[in-house]
Amino acid sequence: MRRIFPIFFSKKEKFIGHNPASSIAIIIMLSLGFICVISGLMLYGIDENSGIFAFLYNNYNELKFVKSIHEVSANLLLIVAIIHICGALIDKFIHKNDALNSMITGYKLTKNDESVKANLAQKIFCLVWILAIIAAFLYILNRDNFILKSHALKVDYSSQNAVFAKECGSCHMLYPPFLLPKKSWEIMMANLENHFGDDASIDEEANQNILNFLLANSAQMNSNKTAFNILKYAKNDQNIAITQNEYWIKKHRKIDEKVFLRDDIKSKANCTACHKDIQNGIIQKSLIDYEKIKRF
Ligand code: HEC
Ligand code: HEC
Repeated sequence: MRRIFPIFFSKKEKFIGHNPASSIAIIIMLSLGFICVISGLMLYGIDENSGIFAFLYNNYNELKFVKSIHEVSANLLLIVAIIHICGALIDKFIHKNDALNSMITGYKLTKNDESVKANLAQKIFCLVWILAIIAAFLYILNRDNFILKSHALKVDYSSQNAVFAKECGSCHMLYPPFLLPKKSWEIMMANLENHFGDDASIDEEANQNILNFLLANSAQMNSNKTAFNILKYAKNDQNIAITQNEYWIKKHRKIDEKVFLRDDIKSKANCTACHKDIQNGIIQKSLIDYEKIKRF
């Protein structure tokens, strides 16, 4: 304890570089940073079907805990960093040590000359790393890099079920079947004569065909983030509107009601006005037209 927290036990001990407490802080910060980055990348795969962990996309229920790891590690990192900075300031202004200066100048106050010089090989090694970091940074700026790249595949509903695409895409966009639970599709398909004020009725055979397709691809049959939450929040099982589902409401509550009535959007149900590729079954934050929501 005495060596780890010398400022609490002794005023005399001096350290040329980092004192033991700050060395420990750095090890903790590096570890937390690593956990934070890995869990963040995992979340990007779990939530957005993108990046190196995109293969985790269809396991939302089993992996949703990763979000807590990410948040806790990020907040702890912040706390340790603040403590570390306070420690450095105490070190400089109360104990009048030189560690903070030496971080900038590279010089440390020692009795004997203990300086070391980098040889040519070490300098080249250092330069290579600096260049590698710059190259990595430039590469990351391109959104299609392997760390962020989307792995979502567009679903072509018209080739999966032509009747569904034709009958259910004639008045409005085609809603991916995983946006509603089985029960909702059953109620909707049993009452197409009175479909949101319209008569959308079709013959018995087409109806059965579409219903089977909707049930086979409903929220229950998918394990991505959206389907999981639609099911979780589907409290009223008589509801047949996606836009009445509590999850939908929660996710869109910050958007002003007036935005949905605008000429280029027209209705809450016109998802495709803001979500590019939603008609192909892809829901990703990177495909949301945020600019459109800001324009009034
Ligand atoms: C005759 C036109 C018409 C046809 C055909 C039609 N719909 Fe609709 N549908 C509507 C209207 C109008 C609404 C309400 C849209 C709004 O609120 O802006 C609607 C809303 C919906 C909604 C709810 C959207 C929301 O508010 O969350 C779903 C889901 C839906 N339709 C599915 C289907 C399916 C599945 C089919 C094929 C069996 C179908 N529709 C065929 C006119 C139609
Ligand atoms: C006016 C534009 C607009 C319309 C129309 C719209 N959305 Fe959204 N949606 C958004 C925005 C913006 C967000 C992101 C909110 C945020 O960043 O937390 C969002 C978020 C979502 C999310 C959550 C994404 C996530 O991973 O957190 C889902 C799911 C979603 N929308 C589905 C739909 C569906 C289905 C429809 C149509 C029935 C629809 N949206 C209509 C703008 C819209």
